[in-house]
Amino acid sequence: MIKDLWYKNAVVYCLNVGTFMDSNGDGIGDFEGLMRRLDYLSGLGVNCLWLMPFQKSPQRDDGYDISDYYQVDPRYGTLGDFVDFTHEAKQRGIRVMMDLVINHTSDQHPWFQAARRDKSSRYRDYYLWADKKPKDAQSGMVFPGVQKTTWTRDPIAGKYYFHRFYKFQPDLNTQNPEVQEEIRKIMGFYLELGVCGFRMDAMPFVIQTKGTTAAHTERYTMLREFREFLQWRVGDAIILAEANVEPDLNMHYFGDDGDRLQMMFNFWVNQRVFYALASGNSRPLAKALEQTRNRPATAQWANFLRNHDELDLGRLSDEERQIVFEEMGPDKTMQLYDRGIRRRLAPMLDGDRRRLELAYSLLFTLPGTPVIRYGDELGMGDNLRLRERNCARTPMQWSTEPHAGFTRADKPILPVITGGPYGYEQVNAAQQRRDPDSLLNWTERIIRMRHEVPEIGWGDYSVVETGHDHVFAMRYDWRNNSVLVVHNLGAAQTEIEMHLGDKLGRTLINLLGDEHSHADNKGRHHIVLESYGYRWYRVGGLGYLLDRTSY
Ligand code: GLC
Ligand code: CA
Repeated sequence: MIKDLWYKNAVVYCLNVGTFMDSNGDGIGDFEGLMRRLDYLSGLGVNCLWLMPFQKSPQRDDGYDISDYYQVDPRYGTLGDFVDFTHEAKQRGIRVMMDLVINHTSDQHPWFQAARRDKSSRYRDYYLWADKKPKDAQSGMVFPGVQKTTWTRDPIAGKYYFHRFYKFQPDLNTQNPEVQEEIRKIMGFYLELGVCGFRMDAMPFVIQTKGTTAAHTERYTMLREFREFLQWRVGDAIILAEANVEPDLNMHYFGDDGDRLQMMFNFWVNQRVFYALASGNSRPLAKALEQTRNRPATAQWANFLRNHDELDLGRLSDEERQIVFEEMGPDKTMQLYDRGIRRRLAPMLDGDRRRLELAYSLLFTLPGTPVIRYGDELGMGDNLRLRERNCARTPMQWSTEPHAGFTRADKPILPVITGGPYGYEQVNAAQQRRDPDSLLNWTERIIRMRHEVPEIGWGDYSVVETGHDHVFAMRYDWRNNSVLVVHNLGAAQTEIEMHLGDKLGRTLINLLGDEHSHADNKGRHHIVLESYGYRWYRVGGLGYLLDRTSY
Protein backbone atom coordinates (compact mmCIF):
# COMPACT_ATOMS: atom_id res chain seq x y z
CA MET A 1 0.00 0.00 0.00
CA ILE A 2 1.41 3.41 -0.89
CA LYS A 3 1.99 5.50 2.18
CA ASP A 4 1.14 8.71 0.36
CA LEU A 5 -2.56 8.54 1.09
CA TRP A 6 -2.50 11.62 3.31
CA TYR A 7 -6.19 11.46 4.13
CA LYS A 8 -5.77 8.15 5.95
CA ASN A 9 -4.20 9.75 8.99
CA ALA A 10 -5.33 13.37 8.78
CA VAL A 11 -7.26 15.45 11.30
CA VAL A 12 -9.81 17.65 9.55
CA TYR A 13 -11.19 20.92 10.97
CA CYS A 14 -14.23 22.45 9.39
CA LEU A 15 -15.11 26.11 9.53
CA ASN A 16 -17.16 28.82 7.93
CA VAL A 17 -15.11 31.82 6.80
CA GLY A 18 -17.99 34.17 7.63
CA THR A 19 -18.10 33.29 11.32
CA PHE A 20 -14.43 32.59 12.03
CA MET A 21 -12.57 35.92 12.17
CA ASP A 22 -13.42 39.38 10.87
CA SER A 23 -10.36 41.45 9.93
CA ASN A 24 -11.91 44.66 8.59
CA GLY A 25 -14.62 45.36 11.12
CA ASP A 26 -17.69 44.89 8.94
CA GLY A 27 -19.04 42.15 11.21
CA ILE A 28 -18.39 39.34 8.74
CA GLY A 29 -15.51 36.90 8.91
CA ASP A 30 -13.15 36.98 5.95
CA PHE A 31 -10.11 35.29 4.41
CA GLU A 32 -7.79 37.93 5.82
CA GLY A 33 -9.07 37.13 9.32
CA LEU A 34 -8.82 33.40 8.73
CA MET A 35 -5.22 33.85 7.62
CA ARG A 36 -4.40 35.57 10.89
CA ARG A 37 -5.75 32.54 12.71
CA LEU A 38 -3.80 29.94 10.76
CA ASP A 39 -1.15 29.72 13.47
CA TYR A 40 -3.86 28.93 15.99
CA LEU A 41 -5.06 26.09 13.76
CA SER A 42 -1.58 24.87 13.12
CA GLY A 43 -0.92 24.91 16.88
CA LEU A 44 -4.00 22.82 17.44
CA GLY A 45 -2.45 20.26 15.14
CA VAL A 46 -5.10 19.95 12.47
CA ASN A 47 -3.66 19.33 9.03
CA CYS A 48 -6.65 19.71 6.75
CA LEU A 49 -9.31 22.42 6.70
CA TRP A 50 -12.73 21.97 5.20
CA LEU A 51 -14.17 25.32 4.23
CA MET A 52 -17.91 25.63 4.05
CA PRO A 53 -19.15 27.39 0.90
CA PHE A 54 -17.42 30.73 0.34
CA GLN A 55 -18.41 31.45 -3.24
CA LYS A 56 -20.65 34.30 -4.28
CA SER A 57 -24.10 33.75 -2.88
CA PRO A 58 -27.28 35.52 -1.76
CA GLN A 59 -26.66 33.63 1.51
CA ARG A 60 -30.13 32.27 1.98
CA ASP A 61 -28.76 28.85 3.00
CA ASP A 62 -25.43 29.85 4.51
CA GLY A 63 -23.75 29.87 1.11
CA TYR A 64 -25.18 26.55 -0.08
CA ASP A 65 -26.97 28.67 -2.71
CA ILE A 66 -24.23 29.75 -5.09
CA SER A 67 -24.74 32.47 -7.69
CA ASP A 68 -21.21 32.47 -9.14
CA TYR A 69 -18.87 29.49 -8.79
CA TYR A 70 -15.87 31.50 -9.92
CA GLN A 71 -16.03 34.30 -7.37
CA VAL A 72 -15.35 34.49 -3.69
CA ASP A 73 -18.31 36.10 -1.99
CA PRO A 74 -17.19 39.76 -1.79
CA ARG A 75 -18.05 39.77 1.89
CA TYR A 76 -15.21 37.31 2.49
CA GLY A 77 -12.59 38.85 0.19
CA THR A 78 -11.34 38.22 -3.31
CA LEU A 79 -9.93 35.30 -5.25
CA GLY A 80 -6.55 36.88 -4.56
CA ASP A 81 -7.17 36.57 -0.82
CA PHE A 82 -8.25 32.99 -1.33
CA VAL A 83 -5.03 32.08 -3.11
CA ASP A 84 -2.99 33.88 -0.45
CA PHE A 85 -4.84 31.79 2.09
CA THR A 86 -4.29 28.41 0.41
CA HIS A 87 -0.63 29.35 0.07
CA GLU A 88 -0.29 30.33 3.73
CA ALA A 89 -2.04 27.14 4.79
CA LYS A 90 0.31 25.08 2.66
CA GLN A 91 3.31 26.81 4.24
CA ARG A 92 2.12 25.38 7.54
CA GLY A 93 1.49 21.90 6.18
CA ILE A 94 -2.27 22.36 6.21
CA ARG A 95 -4.34 21.20 3.26
CA VAL A 96 -7.52 22.97 2.23
CA MET A 97 -10.66 21.16 1.16
CA MET A 98 -13.77 23.01 0.04
CA ASP A 99 -17.45 22.36 -0.22
CA LEU A 100 -18.53 21.66 -3.77
CA VAL A 101 -22.22 22.49 -4.06
CA ILE A 102 -23.32 21.41 -7.50
CA ASN A 103 -26.58 19.62 -6.85
CA HIS A 104 -28.25 22.99 -7.26
CA THR A 105 -27.47 26.65 -7.77
CA SER A 106 -29.03 29.76 -6.30
CA ASP A 107 -32.07 30.96 -8.23
CA GLN A 108 -29.97 34.12 -8.73
CA HIS A 109 -27.33 32.25 -10.71
CA PRO A 110 -27.09 33.63 -14.29
CA TRP A 111 -27.71 30.08 -15.62
CA PHE A 112 -31.08 29.96 -13.92
CA GLN A 113 -31.88 33.54 -14.86
CA ALA A 114 -31.21 32.76 -18.52
CA ALA A 115 -32.99 29.40 -18.34
CA ARG A 116 -36.22 30.78 -16.90
CA ARG A 117 -36.42 33.64 -19.39
CA ASP A 118 -35.80 31.87 -22.65
CA LYS A 119 -36.80 28.35 -23.55
CA SER A 120 -34.28 28.22 -26.34
CA SER A 121 -31.45 29.28 -24.05
CA ARG A 122 -28.60 26.77 -23.85
CA TYR A 123 -29.10 26.93 -20.06
CA ARG A 124 -32.71 25.77 -20.18
CA ASP A 125 -31.66 22.12 -19.88
CA TYR A 126 -29.33 22.91 -17.01
CA TYR A 127 -32.45 22.68 -14.81
CA LEU A 128 -35.53 20.45 -14.61
CA TRP A 129 -38.89 21.73 -15.73
CA ALA A 130 -42.49 20.53 -15.83
CA ASP A 131 -45.61 22.07 -17.32
CA LYS A 132 -47.87 20.80 -14.58
CA LYS A 133 -47.09 20.26 -10.92
CA PRO A 134 -45.91 16.63 -10.74
CA LYS A 135 -47.86 14.26 -8.52
CA ASP A 136 -44.92 13.49 -6.29
CA ALA A 137 -44.17 17.17 -5.60
CA GLN A 138 -44.99 16.73 -1.94
CA SER A 139 -42.46 13.96 -1.38
CA GLY A 140 -38.68 13.83 -1.03
CA MET A 141 -38.30 17.16 0.73
CA VAL A 142 -35.07 17.57 2.65
CA PHE A 143 -36.38 20.22 5.02
CA PRO A 144 -39.83 19.01 6.08
CA GLY A 145 -41.70 21.52 8.16
CA VAL A 146 -39.91 24.42 6.48
CA GLN A 147 -39.98 23.37 2.83
CA LYS A 148 -43.43 22.94 1.29
CA THR A 149 -42.76 21.15 -1.99
CA THR A 150 -40.05 19.96 -4.39
CA TRP A 151 -41.64 21.59 -7.44
CA THR A 152 -42.31 25.32 -7.50
CA ARG A 153 -43.88 27.35 -10.28
CA ASP A 154 -41.64 29.99 -11.75
CA PRO A 155 -43.84 32.83 -13.01
CA ILE A 156 -41.24 33.94 -15.56
CA ALA A 157 -40.81 30.56 -17.21
CA GLY A 158 -44.47 29.72 -16.66
CA LYS A 159 -43.32 26.25 -15.61
CA TYR A 160 -42.50 24.29 -12.50
CA TYR A 161 -38.86 23.62 -11.60
CA PHE A 162 -37.48 20.88 -9.40
CA HIS A 163 -35.71 21.64 -6.13
CA ARG A 164 -34.70 18.95 -3.67
CA PHE A 165 -33.84 21.61 -1.07
CA TYR A 166 -35.27 25.12 -0.52
CA LYS A 167 -37.17 26.67 -3.38
CA PHE A 168 -34.43 29.22 -4.02
CA GLN A 169 -32.10 26.29 -4.84
CA PRO A 170 -33.18 24.94 -8.25
CA ASP A 171 -31.61 21.53 -8.90
CA LEU A 172 -29.11 21.28 -11.70
CA ASN A 173 -29.83 18.65 -14.31
CA THR A 174 -26.66 16.77 -13.46
CA GLN A 175 -27.28 14.11 -16.12
CA ASN A 176 -26.87 16.76 -18.80
CA PRO A 177 -23.33 16.37 -20.24
CA GLU A 178 -22.98 20.13 -20.43
CA VAL A 179 -23.69 20.46 -16.72
CA GLN A 180 -21.16 17.72 -16.04
CA GLU A 181 -18.65 19.69 -18.08
CA GLU A 182 -19.37 22.76 -15.93
CA ILE A 183 -18.81 20.72 -12.76
CA ARG A 184 -15.45 19.52 -14.00
CA LYS A 185 -14.47 23.06 -14.91
CA ILE A 186 -15.29 24.29 -11.40
CA MET A 187 -13.27 21.49 -9.85
CA GLY A 188 -10.35 22.15 -12.19
CA PHE A 189 -10.44 25.85 -11.34
CA TYR A 190 -10.16 25.40 -7.59
CA LEU A 191 -7.57 22.65 -7.92
CA GLU A 192 -5.40 25.19 -9.73
CA LEU A 193 -5.96 27.60 -6.84
CA GLY A 194 -4.57 25.09 -4.39
CA VAL A 195 -7.33 22.99 -2.85
CA CYS A 196 -6.63 19.36 -1.98
CA GLY A 197 -10.13 18.16 -2.71
CA PHE A 198 -13.83 18.61 -2.26
CA ARG A 199 -16.50 17.81 0.26
CA MET A 200 -19.22 16.98 -2.22
CA ASP A 201 -22.54 18.21 -1.01
CA ALA A 202 -25.66 16.06 -1.32
CA MET A 203 -23.88 13.34 -3.30
CA PRO A 204 -26.77 10.86 -3.75
CA PHE A 205 -28.89 13.62 -5.26
CA VAL A 206 -26.09 14.76 -7.56
CA ILE A 207 -25.87 11.37 -9.24
CA GLN A 208 -29.59 10.68 -9.37
CA THR A 209 -31.65 10.94 -12.49
CA LYS A 210 -34.07 13.73 -11.74
CA GLY A 211 -37.21 15.23 -13.16
CA THR A 212 -40.68 14.01 -13.88
CA THR A 213 -39.86 10.78 -15.67
CA ALA A 214 -39.69 7.37 -14.06
CA ALA A 215 -38.16 6.57 -10.69
CA HIS A 216 -35.01 8.37 -9.60
CA THR A 217 -32.00 6.11 -9.94
CA GLU A 218 -28.38 6.63 -9.01
CA ARG A 219 -25.80 6.69 -11.79
CA TYR A 220 -22.77 5.52 -9.86
CA THR A 221 -20.51 5.58 -12.90
CA MET A 222 -20.51 9.37 -12.60
CA LEU A 223 -18.45 8.97 -9.44
CA ARG A 224 -15.67 7.32 -11.34
CA GLU A 225 -15.72 10.06 -13.92
CA PHE A 226 -15.33 12.72 -11.22
CA ARG A 227 -12.53 10.73 -9.65
CA GLU A 228 -10.64 10.23 -12.87
CA PHE A 229 -10.87 13.86 -13.80
CA LEU A 230 -9.67 14.91 -10.37
CA GLN A 231 -6.67 12.62 -10.36
CA TRP A 232 -5.57 13.52 -13.82
CA ARG A 233 -5.43 17.12 -12.68
CA VAL A 234 -3.94 16.63 -9.19
CA GLY A 235 -2.79 13.16 -8.22
CA ASP A 236 -3.50 13.26 -4.50
CA ALA A 237 -6.73 15.26 -4.58
CA ILE A 238 -9.77 13.63 -3.06
CA ILE A 239 -13.54 13.68 -2.91
CA LEU A 240 -15.24 13.37 0.47
CA ALA A 241 -18.90 12.64 -0.08
CA GLU A 242 -21.82 13.73 2.00
CA ALA A 243 -23.97 10.64 1.49
CA ASN A 244 -26.22 9.57 4.32
CA VAL A 245 -27.10 6.15 2.88
CA GLU A 246 -27.78 2.59 3.97
CA PRO A 247 -24.59 0.53 4.48
CA ASP A 248 -25.27 -1.81 1.57
CA LEU A 249 -24.83 1.13 -0.81
CA ASN A 250 -21.39 2.15 0.46
CA MET A 251 -19.42 0.09 -1.98
CA HIS A 252 -21.27 1.72 -4.85
CA TYR A 253 -19.78 4.99 -3.69
CA PHE A 254 -16.27 3.71 -2.98
CA GLY A 255 -16.23 1.40 -6.01
CA ASP A 256 -15.29 -2.27 -5.69
CA ASP A 257 -11.78 -1.54 -6.91
CA GLY A 258 -11.52 1.74 -5.02
CA ASP A 259 -12.00 3.51 -8.33
CA ARG A 260 -14.73 5.91 -7.20
CA LEU A 261 -14.67 8.13 -4.11
CA GLN A 262 -11.81 8.13 -1.62
CA MET A 263 -13.89 9.23 1.34
CA MET A 264 -17.41 9.27 2.73
CA PHE A 265 -18.82 10.60 5.96
CA ASN A 266 -19.93 7.71 8.12
CA PHE A 267 -23.45 8.88 8.99
CA TRP A 268 -24.46 5.34 9.90
CA VAL A 269 -21.86 5.14 12.65
CA ASN A 270 -22.42 8.77 13.68
CA GLN A 271 -26.02 8.07 14.67
CA ARG A 272 -25.00 5.02 16.72
CA VAL A 273 -22.25 6.98 18.45
CA PHE A 274 -24.92 9.34 19.71
CA TYR A 275 -27.11 6.44 20.67
CA ALA A 276 -24.18 4.97 22.59
CA LEU A 277 -23.49 8.28 24.35
CA ALA A 278 -27.17 8.72 25.19
CA SER A 279 -27.97 5.16 26.31
CA GLY A 280 -24.62 3.86 27.48
CA ASN A 281 -25.13 0.83 25.24
CA SER A 282 -22.33 0.22 22.74
CA ARG A 283 -23.76 -2.86 20.99
CA PRO A 284 -25.51 -1.02 18.14
CA LEU A 285 -22.30 0.98 17.58
CA ALA A 286 -20.27 -2.22 17.34
CA LYS A 287 -22.80 -3.55 14.86
CA ALA A 288 -22.72 -0.34 12.80
CA LEU A 289 -18.94 -0.55 12.58
CA GLU A 290 -19.25 -4.11 11.35
CA GLN A 291 -21.83 -3.06 8.77
CA THR A 292 -19.51 -0.36 7.45
CA ARG A 293 -16.30 -2.34 7.74
CA ASN A 294 -16.10 -3.22 4.09
CA ARG A 295 -14.22 -0.65 2.06
CA PRO A 296 -11.44 -0.71 -0.52
CA ALA A 297 -7.93 -0.46 0.93
CA THR A 298 -7.43 3.03 -0.47
CA ALA A 299 -10.78 4.35 0.76
CA GLN A 300 -11.41 5.95 4.10
CA TRP A 301 -14.28 6.88 6.38
CA ALA A 302 -14.63 10.37 7.73
CA ASN A 303 -16.04 10.34 11.26
CA PHE A 304 -17.64 13.26 13.03
CA LEU A 305 -19.79 14.10 16.01
CA ARG A 306 -21.74 17.26 15.26
CA ASN A 307 -21.57 19.12 11.98
CA HIS A 308 -23.09 22.39 10.73
CA ASP A 309 -26.45 20.71 10.09
CA GLU A 310 -28.87 19.10 12.50
CA LEU A 311 -27.82 15.79 14.02
CA ASP A 312 -29.81 13.55 11.71
CA LEU A 313 -31.20 10.56 13.62
CA GLY A 314 -33.36 9.37 10.75
CA ARG A 315 -31.61 6.03 10.40
CA LEU A 316 -32.06 4.87 13.99
CA SER A 317 -35.02 2.75 15.04
CA ASP A 318 -37.91 4.76 16.50
CA GLU A 319 -37.03 3.52 19.94
CA GLU A 320 -33.34 4.39 19.66
CA ARG A 321 -34.16 7.83 18.25
CA GLN A 322 -36.50 8.47 21.16
CA ILE A 323 -33.77 7.71 23.64
CA VAL A 324 -31.36 10.15 21.99
CA PHE A 325 -34.07 12.83 21.87
CA GLU A 326 -34.91 12.34 25.52
CA GLU A 327 -31.31 12.45 26.65
CA MET A 328 -29.92 15.13 24.38
CA GLY A 329 -32.71 17.21 22.91
CA PRO A 330 -35.95 16.72 24.84
CA ASP A 331 -37.40 20.12 24.03
CA LYS A 332 -39.23 20.64 20.71
CA THR A 333 -37.13 23.78 20.16
CA MET A 334 -33.99 21.61 20.18
CA GLN A 335 -35.30 19.36 17.42
CA LEU A 336 -35.50 19.97 13.69
CA TYR A 337 -37.02 18.57 10.48
CA ASP A 338 -38.78 15.74 12.35
CA ARG A 339 -35.56 13.77 12.46
CA GLY A 340 -32.80 15.50 14.35
CA ILE A 341 -31.32 17.69 17.03
CA ARG A 342 -29.93 21.09 16.18
CA ARG A 343 -27.80 21.74 19.27
CA ARG A 344 -24.04 21.89 19.59
CA LEU A 345 -22.21 19.02 21.24
CA ALA A 346 -21.28 20.61 24.57
CA PRO A 347 -24.84 21.49 25.66
CA MET A 348 -26.04 18.08 24.45
CA LEU A 349 -23.65 16.57 27.00
CA ASP A 350 -24.63 19.10 29.70
CA GLY A 351 -21.21 20.67 29.37
CA ASP A 352 -19.84 17.72 31.34
CA ARG A 353 -16.11 17.73 30.72
CA ARG A 354 -15.81 13.98 31.35
CA ARG A 355 -18.44 13.20 28.73
CA LEU A 356 -16.97 15.68 26.25
CA GLU A 357 -13.58 14.03 26.54
CA LEU A 358 -15.18 10.62 26.23
CA ALA A 359 -17.07 11.66 23.09
CA TYR A 360 -13.97 13.13 21.47
CA SER A 361 -11.76 10.26 22.50
CA LEU A 362 -14.27 7.93 20.88
CA LEU A 363 -14.41 10.04 17.71
CA PHE A 364 -10.62 10.13 17.44
CA THR A 365 -10.37 6.36 17.76
CA LEU A 366 -13.09 5.26 15.36
CA PRO A 367 -11.88 3.57 12.18
CA GLY A 368 -11.27 6.44 9.80
CA THR A 369 -10.30 10.09 9.79
CA PRO A 370 -11.76 12.47 12.39
CA VAL A 371 -13.48 15.68 11.35
CA ILE A 372 -14.00 18.31 14.03
CA ARG A 373 -15.88 21.56 13.90
CA TYR A 374 -14.67 25.05 14.81
CA GLY A 375 -15.42 25.97 18.40
CA ASP A 376 -15.86 22.40 19.57
CA GLU A 377 -12.26 22.47 20.80
CA LEU A 378 -13.47 25.12 23.28
CA GLY A 379 -16.80 23.48 24.10
CA MET A 380 -18.85 26.22 22.45
CA GLY A 381 -22.62 26.20 22.92
CA ASP A 382 -25.64 27.13 20.83
CA ASN A 383 -28.27 29.85 20.65
CA LEU A 384 -31.66 28.24 20.17
CA ARG A 385 -33.28 31.61 19.48
CA LEU A 386 -31.65 31.58 16.03
CA ARG A 387 -33.64 29.85 13.35
CA GLU A 388 -33.14 26.31 12.06
CA ARG A 389 -29.49 25.32 11.92
CA ASN A 390 -28.14 28.81 12.61
CA CYS A 391 -28.27 28.09 16.34
CA ALA A 392 -25.06 26.09 16.03
CA ARG A 393 -23.32 28.44 13.58
CA THR A 394 -22.51 31.41 15.83
CA PRO A 395 -19.15 33.23 15.60
CA MET A 396 -15.97 31.72 16.97
CA GLN A 397 -15.21 32.79 20.54
CA TRP A 398 -11.67 34.11 20.59
CA SER A 399 -11.39 36.23 23.73
CA THR A 400 -13.22 38.28 26.36
CA GLU A 401 -13.15 41.38 24.14
CA PRO A 402 -16.53 42.60 22.84
CA HIS A 403 -18.15 40.09 20.50
CA ALA A 404 -15.61 37.54 21.65
CA GLY A 405 -12.87 39.29 19.67
CA PHE A 406 -14.51 37.99 16.50
CA THR A 407 -15.24 41.48 15.15
CA ARG A 408 -14.85 45.18 15.99
CA ALA A 409 -18.26 45.88 14.46
CA ASP A 410 -21.32 46.60 16.59
CA LYS A 411 -23.34 43.98 14.83
CA PRO A 412 -21.76 40.65 13.89
CA ILE A 413 -23.22 38.54 11.08
CA LEU A 414 -24.80 36.28 13.72
CA PRO A 415 -24.91 37.18 17.41
CA VAL A 416 -22.04 35.90 19.51
CA ILE A 417 -23.15 33.74 22.43
CA THR A 418 -23.08 35.84 25.59
CA GLY A 419 -23.88 35.13 29.22
CA GLY A 420 -24.42 31.79 30.87
CA PRO A 421 -22.07 28.83 30.88
CA TYR A 422 -21.38 28.99 27.13
CA GLY A 423 -21.08 32.77 26.74
CA TYR A 424 -17.78 34.06 25.39
CA GLU A 425 -17.02 35.53 28.80
CA GLN A 426 -16.65 31.93 30.02
CA VAL A 427 -15.72 30.04 26.87
CA ASN A 428 -13.01 31.54 24.69
CA ALA A 429 -9.69 30.59 23.10
CA ALA A 430 -7.55 33.21 24.86
CA GLN A 431 -8.33 31.99 28.37
CA GLN A 432 -8.20 28.34 27.44
CA ARG A 433 -4.84 28.79 25.78
CA ARG A 434 -3.38 29.89 29.14
CA ASP A 435 -4.98 27.08 31.14
CA PRO A 436 -3.09 23.79 30.83
CA ASP A 437 -6.20 21.85 31.84
CA SER A 438 -8.55 23.53 29.38
CA LEU A 439 -10.52 21.62 26.77
CA LEU A 440 -8.51 23.45 24.11
CA ASN A 441 -5.23 22.12 25.45
CA TRP A 442 -6.73 18.69 25.97
CA THR A 443 -7.86 18.70 22.33
CA GLU A 444 -4.40 19.72 21.19
CA ARG A 445 -2.88 16.82 23.12
CA ILE A 446 -5.36 14.27 21.84
CA ILE A 447 -4.81 15.44 18.26
CA ARG A 448 -1.07 15.09 18.69
CA MET A 449 -1.57 11.57 19.99
CA ARG A 450 -3.96 10.72 17.18
CA HIS A 451 -1.30 11.64 14.61
CA GLU A 452 1.11 9.36 16.46
CA VAL A 453 -1.24 6.41 16.28
CA PRO A 454 -1.44 5.71 12.54
CA GLU A 455 -2.79 2.25 13.36
CA ILE A 456 -6.21 3.87 13.69
CA GLY A 457 -6.12 5.54 10.29
CA TRP A 458 -4.56 2.63 8.45
CA GLY A 459 -5.04 -0.52 10.42
CA ASP A 460 -7.52 -3.35 10.78
CA TYR A 461 -9.67 -3.27 13.83
CA SER A 462 -11.50 -5.74 15.99
CA VAL A 463 -13.95 -5.12 18.78
CA VAL A 464 -12.64 -6.61 22.03
CA GLU A 465 -15.15 -8.15 24.40
CA THR A 466 -15.17 -6.47 27.81
CA GLY A 467 -18.15 -8.23 29.32
CA HIS A 468 -20.07 -4.96 29.69
CA ASP A 469 -22.42 -3.33 27.17
CA HIS A 470 -21.30 0.08 28.34
CA VAL A 471 -17.58 -0.52 27.97
CA PHE A 472 -16.47 -0.40 24.38
CA ALA A 473 -13.00 -1.60 23.42
CA MET A 474 -11.31 -1.79 20.04
CA ARG A 475 -7.96 -3.03 18.94
CA TYR A 476 -6.11 -1.86 15.85
CA ASP A 477 -3.29 -3.73 14.16
CA TRP A 478 -1.04 -2.31 11.49
CA ARG A 479 2.50 -3.23 10.44
CA ASN A 480 3.23 -5.17 13.63
CA ASN A 481 2.02 -2.32 15.79
CA SER A 482 -1.17 -2.43 17.81
CA VAL A 483 -3.22 -0.11 19.91
CA LEU A 484 -6.12 -0.81 22.19
CA VAL A 485 -8.71 1.83 23.06
CA VAL A 486 -11.29 1.48 25.80
CA HIS A 487 -14.29 3.71 26.53
CA ASN A 488 -16.62 3.57 29.50
CA LEU A 489 -19.91 5.01 28.29
CA GLY A 490 -21.47 4.66 31.70
CA ALA A 491 -21.55 6.90 34.76
CA ALA A 492 -20.50 4.04 37.04
CA GLN A 493 -16.90 3.12 37.72
CA THR A 494 -16.37 -0.27 36.10
CA GLU A 495 -13.69 -2.90 36.36
CA ILE A 496 -13.15 -4.87 33.19
CA GLU A 497 -11.24 -8.02 32.49
CA MET A 498 -9.68 -8.58 29.11
CA HIS A 499 -7.59 -11.19 27.42
CA LEU A 500 -5.72 -10.05 24.34
CA GLY A 501 -4.64 -13.48 23.28
CA ASP A 502 -1.07 -12.89 22.17
CA LYS A 503 2.19 -12.60 24.05
CA LEU A 504 2.63 -9.00 23.05
CA GLY A 505 -0.70 -8.25 24.64
CA ARG A 506 0.66 -8.84 28.14
CA THR A 507 1.79 -5.26 28.55
CA LEU A 508 -0.34 -2.26 27.72
CA ILE A 509 1.40 1.10 27.64
CA ASN A 510 -0.92 3.93 28.55
CA LEU A 511 -0.50 6.61 25.88
CA LEU A 512 -2.37 9.31 27.78
CA GLY A 513 -1.21 8.69 31.33
CA ASP A 514 1.19 6.84 33.58
CA GLU A 515 -0.73 3.77 34.62
CA HIS A 516 0.27 0.95 32.35
CA SER A 517 -1.38 -2.43 32.58
CA HIS A 518 0.34 -5.77 33.05
CA ALA A 519 -1.55 -8.99 32.57
CA ASP A 520 -1.88 -11.43 35.47
CA ASN A 521 -0.37 -14.93 35.19
CA LYS A 522 -3.40 -16.09 33.20
CA GLY A 523 -2.79 -13.33 30.66
CA ARG A 524 -5.76 -11.25 31.78
CA HIS A 525 -5.80 -7.49 32.22
CA HIS A 526 -7.83 -5.95 35.02
CA ILE A 527 -8.58 -2.33 34.29
CA VAL A 528 -10.62 -0.02 36.47
CA LEU A 529 -12.30 2.65 34.42
CA GLU A 530 -13.68 5.66 36.23
CA SER A 531 -17.04 7.18 35.34
CA TYR A 532 -16.88 8.01 31.59
CA GLY A 533 -13.23 6.97 31.62
CA TYR A 534 -11.21 6.18 28.51
CA ARG A 535 -7.78 4.71 27.78
CA TRP A 536 -5.50 4.52 24.79
CA TYR A 537 -2.85 1.80 25.07
CA ARG A 538 -0.08 0.69 22.84
CA VAL A 539 0.09 -3.07 22.93
CA GLY A 540 3.54 -4.35 23.85
CA GLY A 541 6.47 -3.57 26.15
CA LEU A 542 8.05 -0.22 26.74
CA GLY A 543 11.16 -1.03 24.75
CA TYR A 544 8.92 -1.96 21.95
CA LEU A 545 7.32 1.45 22.14
CA LEU A 546 10.64 3.25 22.04
CA ASP A 547 11.91 1.17 19.15
CA ARG A 548 8.91 1.88 17.09
CA THR A 549 9.89 3.81 14.03
CA SER A 550 7.60 6.26 12.43
CA TYR A 551 5.50 4.86 9.64
C1 GLC B 1 -26.14 19.79 2.58
C2 GLC B 1 -25.54 20.78 3.55
C3 GLC B 1 -26.61 21.67 4.09
C4 GLC B 1 -27.28 22.38 2.95
C5 GLC B 1 -27.78 21.39 1.89
C6 GLC B 1 -28.18 22.09 0.63
O1 GLC B 1 -26.99 18.91 3.21
O2 GLC B 1 -24.82 20.11 4.55
O3 GLC B 1 -26.10 22.59 5.01
O4 GLC B 1 -28.39 23.12 3.42
O5 GLC B 1 -26.79 20.47 1.54
O6 GLC B 1 -27.04 22.46 -0.11
CA1 CA C 1 -14.98 41.27 7.28
